[in-house]
Amino acid sequence: MRVAFVGKGGSGKTTLAALFTRYLAELGRPVLAVDADINQHLGQALGLDEDATPRPLGADLGWLKDHLRGGNPRLPSADVVIKTTPPGRGSRLVRLSEDDEVLRRHAVRCAGGARLMVTGEFDTEDIGVSCYHSKTGAVELYLNHLMDGPGEYVVVDMTAGADAFASGLFTRFDLTVLVSEPTQRGIGVYRQYLANSAGHRLALRVVGNKVADRADADYLREQLGSALLASVGHSAWVRAAERGAPEPLASLEPANRAALDAVLAELDATERDWAAYHRGTVEFHLRNARAWANRAFGRDLADQVDPDFVPGPVAAASVAAGTA
Ligand SMILES: Nc1ncnc2c1ncn2[C@@H]1O[C@H](COP(=O)(O)OP(=O)(O)OP(=O)(O)O)[C@@H](O)[C@H]1O
Ligand SMILES: [Mg+2]
Repeated sequence: MRVAFVGKGGSGKTTLAALFTRYLAELGRPVLAVDADINQHLGQALGLDEDATPRPLGADLGWLKDHLRGGNPRLPSADVVIKTTPPGRGSRLVRLSEDDEVLRRHAVRCAGGARLMVTGEFDTEDIGVSCYHSKTGAVELYLNHLMDGPGEYVVVDMTAGADAFASGLFTRFDLTVLVSEPTQRGIGVYRQYLANSAGHRLALRVVGNKVADRADADYLREQLGSALLASVGHSAWVRAAERGAPEPLASLEPANRAALDAVLAELDATERDWAAYHRGTVEFHLRNARAWANRAFGRDLADQVDPDFVPGPVAAASVAAGTA
């Protein structure tokens, strides 16, 4: 199951993504945290030393593309794989298991046994010639080949505000948590997110953050109604973690822990429709093909779509058995 934390800059996306990751790890659930923000702070929030940061997924796109294309006959080389290229028969479907090669290469263990993967910083050579979206594209490609199931979790810390819409990544989640402070601007970002995502299959809920008193809580409830999933108050536990001295999660304020319970219950209540999910993958691929890739490659990349393929547990099992 996948959850993304989105919202206004400074609203608390990284803080809540890290808290939720720690919480899942404490419950003994397998969890992969992914830092897909341009400013990479999730590792720090998960207690990782800077020199322990994993090899960024976006730094080795050639390897990732080659790995994921596997033996897919529609993809003769890594060079033709773009960030939206959908998996098809022969593609290598990846898992959250211990021995998965992508994780072994690109993830490190952090708080409570959770794993962390990062897209990578904006390199100086990217400036003026490229854009950050090629980095988040690596996450999109990875997620489109990931066969995660119930009881396994991916927690993604996304870029602030409307930048999340620069690629199809925003549609790749079972639940999108928009973090909003009890302010007009926070609510405004939620409304904008709702408008931008109209027409896409998206389970979008709001978690209030830095809610100080009843007036704050009432404001969020009035503005959001049933879209409000839970609220987190100003947290001494978070402050201590920010000072580099996190306490055991058991000492997190009970009301804040209840907010994490609510997010997990919401996430666990979702059920992935793999066919619909894959239709989204194909839709974004065809859109990218028409917008730029066909011109760049001098041919129609619609031929990368395998019309008879649907990913999911069945496809993964047949790949494992060598029958795909
Ligand atoms: N519930 C909370 N209690 C106390 N401090 C908090 C809480 N939530 C967030 N903060 C603090 O607010 C600041 C901003 O939080 P955070 O970095 O998580 O926001 P962000 O949305 O990820 O920001 P950016 O858009 O820059 O990535 C941090 O210093 C964080 O410690
Ligand atoms: Mg952040």
